[in-house]
Amino acid sequence: MAGPVLVFDSGVGGLSVVAALRRRLPGTALAYACDNAMLPYGVREDDWLVRRILAVCEAAVAASACSGLVVACNTASTLALEVLRARLSVPVVGTVPAIKPAAGASRTRHIGLLATSATVARPYTARLIRDFAGDCRVTRLAADPLVGEAERLVMGQAPEVETLRRVLAPLAEWPDLDTLVLGCTHFPLLREPLAEAVPHPVRWVDSGDAIARRAGQVIASPQRRPAPEFGWVTAPTPALARGLAGFGFAETRRLAPT
Ligand code: DGL
Repeated sequence: MAGPVLVFDSGVGGLSVVAALRRRLPGTALAYACDNAMLPYGVREDDWLVRRILAVCEAAVAASACSGLVVACNTASTLALEVLRARLSVPVVGTVPAIKPAAGASRTRHIGLLATSATVARPYTARLIRDFAGDCRVTRLAADPLVGEAERLVMGQAPEVETLRRVLAPLAEWPDLDTLVLGCTHFPLLREPLAEAVPHPVRWVDSGDAIARRAGQVIASPQRRPAPEFGWVTAPTPALARGLAGFGFAETRRLAPT
């Protein structure tokens, strides 16, 4: 029997990709997995992270009996996509910063990348910039505190406006920067408060819709809705269960990676 499309992130960030999948593939059943016990991923050491991502994804793929996996995490994808593809028996779609569309859209040829410390420093990211934004200046901004703010928002609390302002404040130095890549899936969840906190208006670019389109192309015959849609989490809490229920995952279950 065909299984759901499984969406994986460290925390609630993948829900921004779930929203894009719901828009583009409304008939497709989804499952959600997150490793909230080890959140945030963006400040962790690479070797540990590869082992952890593999363990969590293997457990989640087995538990959900999914037909395909969407790694809705830039921090995980820029590090572990190849090893996931080698180890899992289902198709794997990754999420990497939308450098190419941002370079296509920028008029001033100065774009920004807002992502976790890990993602801004990855060789994978440097290659994306070299291959797709060779004629642009690309300013990278590590924005780890926004991960926690997006978590707060999904758990029903207002994000701290001061934190958003502080993270975006360096942009005031570059008034010619006209396009900003949201290179962490948590950040599109904060798009409105970010737009209020940014020192000057920018065009926001994220990967959500492109990932949803790609998932529709490479994951063959997934389960159709209506179907039970579960959230799988490594540290269940009532607030997280409520947050996931708001995106259609009515029941949350504990995931135990080995
Ligand atoms: N949502 C994840 C990403 O896209 C990262 C969040 C974290 O640091 O755990 O990179």
